[in-house]
Amino acid sequence: MKNEIVKLLRKEGKLSDEAIDEIEKTNINNFVEIIKEIGKEKREHIKSSEISKDLNTKFIGKNLYIYHEVSSTNTVAKFLSQNGVENGSIVISEKQTGGKGRSGKFWESPLGGVWLSIILAPDVDHSKIPLITLATGVAVAKTLENMGVENSEIKWPNDILINGKKVCGILTEAVTNFNTIENVIIGVGIDANLTIDNFSEEIQSRTTTLENELGRKIDENLLIKLFLEEFEKISELFNSEGYEEILKEWRRRSYTIGKIVEVRKPFNRYYNAYVLGISREGALVVEKIDGTLEKVISGECIIKN
Ligand code: BTN
Repeated sequence: MKNEIVKLLRKEGKLSDEAIDEIEKTNINNFVEIIKEIGKEKREHIKSSEISKDLNTKFIGKNLYIYHEVSSTNTVAKFLSQNGVENGSIVISEKQTGGKGRSGKFWESPLGGVWLSIILAPDVDHSKIPLITLATGVAVAKTLENMGVENSEIKWPNDILINGKKVCGILTEAVTNFNTIENVIIGVGIDANLTIDNFSEEIQSRTTTLENELGRKIDENLLIKLFLEEFEKISELFNSEGYEEILKEWRRRSYTIGKIVEVRKPFNRYYNAYVLGISREGALVVEKIDGTLEKVISGECIIKN
């Protein structure tokens, strides 16, 4: 069994060679045990004891799987969710070699950022997934406010901006069995203790970091703890169908409403439109040039003004 897993991990390139060598040396057979063991490799900044100390949650973050380096925390979280880990477990890595962004883009994840995934088992259908992403955006924005950021805004659907530049992205992926959602993996990437030159030139002009905005290093473990607490609060609101309250909080921080945008749809289709608001399902409501209204459920939007 272990040999099979090692072969699979090598083939898929999901984990660093160093981590896979560790698995080979480890005398364990159960898959989840293997994943937990890898989590014990040496870490530089992120400490389970620091996050758990005074963590005021009932189920979010009660199990933390912390790594020094993985390909993508979303991928590890998906593996774990299919192998019976508890609802609310969190996968964190100090760096990612194959971080996943939206629309199949690569997500740059150097040491110093906060790269984590939440494993949720919500009892919802597909139509509610966009709202889970919006709720996560609100939880991130509130966390940043608690850390001293005064002007965090949310760009639909899932970018957190400070002074118009992206500091955090969210990637929500559903783990389904036929048509049923078994788990939702919510990946959150926050550019925390990093400077702009830690990123490729291509994204530097539209990226910022907490270190850059606050003019100091922040405590990454505290940031994670505060986020887990905010996330649990908003997920409880979500579970009690407090959707309007979530949307109100989202609208209050919206960077997108009232702007002209270019809506980019799959297959290279795009059009310009004015953003009127956000619907109950979390779709962007836009007015096109010809006056027709449209709800944009998925896609990208580029701000024009
Ligand atoms: C975006 O394109 O804005 C979404 C970026 C999401 C990045 C995070 S980092 C933690 C988690 N693991 C991943 O591979 N992606 C998400």
